Amino acid sequence: KNIAVVMGGYSSEFEISLNSGAVVCEALDASVYNVFAIHILKDGWLYVAENGSRQPIDKANFSFMANGEKIVPDVIFNTVHGTPGEDGYLQAYWNLLGIPHTSPNFYQSALSFNKRDCLSVLKGFGVKCANSYYINKGIEYKAENIIKIVGLPCFVKPNRAGSSYGISKVNHLEDFDAAVQNAFTEDTEVLVETALVGTEVSVGVYKLDGEIKAFMPTEIVSENEFFDYEAKYLGQSQEITPARISSEETERVQEEARKVYSILGMSGVTRSEFIIQKGEPYLIETNTTPGLSKESIIPKQVRQAGMVLGDFFGSLIEEAFK
Ligand code: DAL
Ligand code: MG
Repeated sequence: KNIAVVMGGYSSEFEISLNSGAVVCEALDASVYNVFAIHILKDGWLYVAENGSRQPIDKANFSFMANGEKIVPDVIFNTVHGTPGEDGYLQAYWNLLGIPHTSPNFYQSALSFNKRDCLSVLKGFGVKCANSYYINKGIEYKAENIIKIVGLPCFVKPNRAGSSYGISKVNHLEDFDAAVQNAFTEDTEVLVETALVGTEVSVGVYKLDGEIKAFMPTEIVSENEFFDYEAKYLGQSQEITPARISSEETERVQEEARKVYSILGMSGVTRSEFIIQKGEPYLIETNTTPGLSKESIIPKQVRQAGMVLGDFFGSLIEEAFK
């Protein structure tokens, strides 16, 4: 089978995505799959061969030339973080072309990438979330009024972004406006949330033969004020799998993560973040193309579960055909 591992994207996360894609290319069993690295970048869509040579992608059918042969991928392994690979655009395009892909479908992706909309749907199904408030660029807001609702400290986040780009924790009212401006560098929509107090855990979830399975939760202990970019990728955090929580809390948060996956109708591997506050998991967000880089959580959870990374990725590819 010809597998296109698609990476890059148009957002700040593109480099992380290139790292995720490289891990997948390296892990996939070359005796089973013909693996092609595809870069989706602002300045072009390219097949990048192992020797570094580049060939343009024909957007009419997502084909490209490799060793003098025209390749149309049988399946896509999507590792694009952020737009256009995590918010449904590429998924919809691949659907139209009839090429199966490993990520959740376009609507699931679009909904999940919009934190406000995703959390508001899930709240309707009894999933607990922080109190929140939404700001749209160009529409006036009053910091005092928002703080009355969410309290301090609070988190100010771009509504549609990843890897903690543009996120600030606000402890004082006078820092609120700067935090909103910082979030606007990533998105035109901003979500303000109560800072929950508890243990932060991250839970990978995937589907195999129709069964939704959760990995053991990873506990996040950040050396910084929160699990920011430096904590995620520059080693300024400890990630402990399995999390040091009770077996009841472990089961509870895994059940909640599976419920989120099921309600949203996910496929492939996703990862949900929770804060366990007084024994209750509160959902922070769910990621439809979670990081697969060497620093990322999913590869660690796969290994902790005793699986070989390449076999796990292979099972996602097989699932994409179902
Ligand atoms: N957005 C990053 C890549 C993650 O969820 O792991
Ligand atoms: Mg995220």
